[in-house]
Amino acid sequence: MRLLNPQTQADAVEQAAQRLADGGLLALPTETVYGLGARADDDEAVARIFAAKGRPSNHPLIVHVPNAHAALCFASEIPPAARRLMDAFWPGPLTVIVPRHPDCAAAAAGGQHSIGLRCPDHPLAHQLLEAAAKLGVLGVAAPSANRFGRVSPTRAEHVVSEFDGQGEGLDEVWVLDGGPCDVGIESTIVDCSRGYPVLLRPGQITLTQIQAVTGERVGVSTPDKPDASAPRASGTLMAHYAPRAKVRLMPGDLLLVALDAFELEVKEHPALLHESRPRLAVYSRSLWAHRSSIPGVVHRAMPPEPAAAAYHLFADLRELDDLGVDLIWVETPPDDPAWAGVLDRLSRAAAA
Ligand code: TXA
Ligand code: MG
Repeated sequence: MRLLNPQTQADAVEQAAQRLADGGLLALPTETVYGLGARADDDEAVARIFAAKGRPSNHPLIVHVPNAHAALCFASEIPPAARRLMDAFWPGPLTVIVPRHPDCAAAAAGGQHSIGLRCPDHPLAHQLLEAAAKLGVLGVAAPSANRFGRVSPTRAEHVVSEFDGQGEGLDEVWVLDGGPCDVGIESTIVDCSRGYPVLLRPGQITLTQIQAVTGERVGVSTPDKPDASAPRASGTLMAHYAPRAKVRLMPGDLLLVALDAFELEVKEHPALLHESRPRLAVYSRSLWAHRSSIPGVVHRAMPPEPAAAAYHLFADLRELDDLGVDLIWVETPPDDPAWAGVLDRLSRAAAA
């Protein structure tokens, strides 16, 4: 593991770009989450990503490009809906899936005839992609830099804890430290490779915004309501983004009832409590004022506003998990399009 920090190393970006050009693995910051990158035009380099993550090699990866022009290297065609979305939201937290150029990035696409493309809006990612392009790297394939099925990393330290000392080959992961990610949950994914655009994964850019920009009907294919023709995609598996603790999502009123029951139960059976660590974490926007302290329970406040909630979500889940709790009870976010991304990640964590 090598940590490259542009604050202290003047040539950090150049070293990172060279690492990619050499076919090595590099975790890079983006505005959404950290990605585990390798050059997308080299199938052997891409194979290292699947090995490091423990991800099945038929699950397609997102290819990161420095600009819309570079996207043309990987696509056989840019359908009009994709073009409009790229014009409106790139650089930014939006991935478009378009028909793949048949000669390009077959491994990165997990063998699919389509490919996911994204131009990230993060100054370091942008410098890196530009510097790598100068070394002949057409694009960087990068899934989130976590082990398969685990919580995505939003800080360089999270990436280090996912991959450091975790077995052979993984010391090969280099990390470019870009500080905490601004958005905090992964990009919105829109499949534009079929007849009409389909939202595959909600994120900061909402369904309403996508509808407004494409001006057409947008299908939705989420894990709980899969569209029959949707391609296989690991981020669209229900059991994903899972902490070690068991996550349960509950509306606020039910969570309070459950907490009362928990309090009674541990009063009657103190042996249920652990000596050295809390048993239950409550992650809620508003509830804690109603219950001050219950033995064995810690509370973490979820920000009341969706962008801030997304920003903190994965870091908070990791921290609660690291406390060693058995259970994380989460207050269900509001039923509002602006919360769709956070709700999606929490629902999947709860399904694991
Ligand atoms: O914000 C993000 O999108 C982050 C950062 C690093 O850019 N990346 C990310 O990658 O979340 P990953 O691999 O964890 O999730 C990518 C999702 C998966 O669900 C994958 O299956 C889907 O995109 N995907 C990629 N290419 C696809 C394709 N051709 N067809 C269908 N789904 C695709
Ligand atoms: Mg992921």
